[in-house]
Amino acid sequence: MKQRKILVTSALPYANGAIHLGHLVEYIQTDIWVRFQKMRGHECWYVCADDTHGTPIMLRAEREGILPEALIARVHGEHSRDFAGFHIVFDNYHTTHSAETRFHSEDIYGKLKAAGLIEVRAIEQYYDPLKQMFLPDRFIKGECPKCGAQDQYGDSCEACGAAYAPTELKNPYSAVSGAKPELKSSDHYFFKLSDPRCQQFLREWTRRGSLQTEAANKLHEWLGDEGENRLTDWDISRDAPYFGFEIPDAPGKYFYVWLDAPVGYMGSFKNLCARQNIDFDAFWSKASEAELYHFIGKDILYFHALFWPAMLEYAGYRTPTGVFAHGFLTVDGAKMSKSRGTFITAESYLAQGLNPEWLRYYYAAKLGGTMEDIDLSLDDFAARVNSDLVGKYINIASRAAGFIAKRFDGKLVSEHLAEKFDAALPGLREAAEEIAEYYEVRDFARAMRRLMALADLVNQYVDRNQPWVLAKQEGQEARLHEVCSILVNAFRILTIYVKPVLPKLVQCAEEFLNIAPLAWADTTHLLPPAHLINPYEHLMTRVEGKQIEALLAANRESLEPAVQAAVPPTPAVAPHSPQRHAEHQQNAEDKMQNQITIDDFARIDLRIARIAAAAHVEGADKLIRLTLDLGPLGTRQVFAGIKSAYDPATLVGRLTVMVANLAPRKMKFGLSAGMVLAASDPEGTTAGLYLLSPDSGALPGMQVK
Ligand code: 2FM
Ligand code: ZN
Repeated sequence: MKQRKILVTSALPYANGAIHLGHLVEYIQTDIWVRFQKMRGHECWYVCADDTHGTPIMLRAEREGILPEALIARVHGEHSRDFAGFHIVFDNYHTTHSAETRFHSEDIYGKLKAAGLIEVRAIEQYYDPLKQMFLPDRFIKGECPKCGAQDQYGDSCEACGAAYAPTELKNPYSAVSGAKPELKSSDHYFFKLSDPRCQQFLREWTRRGSLQTEAANKLHEWLGDEGENRLTDWDISRDAPYFGFEIPDAPGKYFYVWLDAPVGYMGSFKNLCARQNIDFDAFWSKASEAELYHFIGKDILYFHALFWPAMLEYAGYRTPTGVFAHGFLTVDGAKMSKSRGTFITAESYLAQGLNPEWLRYYYAAKLGGTMEDIDLSLDDFAARVNSDLVGKYINIASRAAGFIAKRFDGKLVSEHLAEKFDAALPGLREAAEEIAEYYEVRDFARAMRRLMALADLVNQYVDRNQPWVLAKQEGQEARLHEVCSILVNAFRILTIYVKPVLPKLVQCAEEFLNIAPLAWADTTHLLPPAHLINPYEHLMTRVEGKQIEALLAANRESLEPAVQAAVPPTPAVAPHSPQRHAEHQQNAEDKMQNQITIDDFARIDLRIARIAAAAHVEGADKLIRLTLDLGPLGTRQVFAGIKSAYDPATLVGRLTVMVANLAPRKMKFGLSAGMVLAASDPEGTTAGLYLLSPDSGALPGMQVK
């Protein structure tokens, strides 16, 4: 078999949110495919990165009172941790906020410009006069022009499903500041996708057959028939303030996040090449013979099958060999939902002690390589893992291992078994190429079905030969030894077939079998005569119903902090803390006397905070915006009415006391997540306002009791 050179990517997750079970469909799918290619002996590289630019990330950092660079660094750590937890192994996990991605974004832009495919045009857009920024559609809200529903986004209505332009909204307001947006004109840079060259090229690229049928149909719908000109130009610039790369020779204009996101694939690979001495051009030059595949969700096909190939083509690079789109994930037949507890993060799945390989197997068993949606039915999840993985596959090893250890000192029979093996289990080894083909075309569901049918055959062999009966019969020692040796070998063959899906379990199986890491070609031979295996330790436990219930409960309970998480970090009160339960234990008598109990007091979470930043708030006469550092509890933004008494510059660095579990309050200027404590005279005249300070030695995050 010729060794192929393959570069594989998964879509880059945004650097402002947690990885959840929906994301994992794609990363698990890609990781399985990459592991399979590596097992086949191909040179296969898997790269990804965080998608770090754009308005939502900029605003999120601002709300947290930190720089975008600090936010994306933190999220990079969280994403890397979550992927590793699910055994998703990238050859490189980079960031789009990198020198490599900047270089290639500028390079591609420059080449498109030289090819006459960039045009500058003035457009009118909503502008937030308070925040002094243009507003993306999602940051404008108002009444739906069709049904009148309140608080709908600028692009579509969640109540009636209508799509419209933000200018059609009634009574629009900025979701950032609450201000009434104004229409303002500004120059934007466009990639001229309407140019006949682009349309022509995309038609030809679609015909190369590198797309799934459904994707090719979609493209045909977007492109129209030969001679039609349906594509419109693509706006690739955004005005300052924006977190991203400034466009060369266009001060104050930035590349739109979706321009540099796919370039991040290149950037991540470039970064890998430098570290591992790989020839970048062998993968990206027009003459490249390497294969390039992008795994994506079906919602971003437009970017990957239109914009991206056209950008590459006219910037002089190779184009993708294939774009593989998958469908969306539903849980128990419905969209993931926070109130039902089915919006499950990767972190909580692992924290609840569920085995990541259960999910890898379940997704594999559901993924057919098409754009169809897949459903995680939680009952079916438990049933399949338990009956297939534990009941059929693992069971084979546990049924044979004990006898080999106890009766034969851990050694297999000392003769070559190949002939007897193939006669006892016909088709087991021959299935290798068939299963490989299913993996190759990403029909993992079919690969898993074939694998389990083979496991059934092996289990039938066990039932026919009944080693536990042989073990009790006199003179059946040799027969018992042979049956169990065949079973250990059968387990090894099935282990090869399942290895891309269950890397961790297979590593333990390899230790048990006392062998080097298995490759696909290892199906051509069996274990050598008299091979010594290690004592068997149980490879996988069953899914228990109560674990699923606990997972749902954990995600339901975390609803409150999760909703707020879009704004302030770290809930000050843990869901199970006594403070929270104290809410339900009010004492009527005490209340009447206007006294509080110690429990009541304990509900207030007072903390030492260091003022990390302080600034005037435009348009507010009383407020100062404080960024408070709570040490291990993270940072908070709080608006404090202390402007009359303090100059912000004098506040930075000092320690004070804050109420850390005050429900966040949405103000005109942003979210206020807590309150600092200050003393004033009983009349509350602003003349005398005194911010509290702790004695020296107190540290940020310490509790005040
Ligand atoms: O849709 C998303 O989550 C994007 N962050 C995907 C980017 S994929 C690629 F183009 F970078
Ligand atoms: Zn509506």
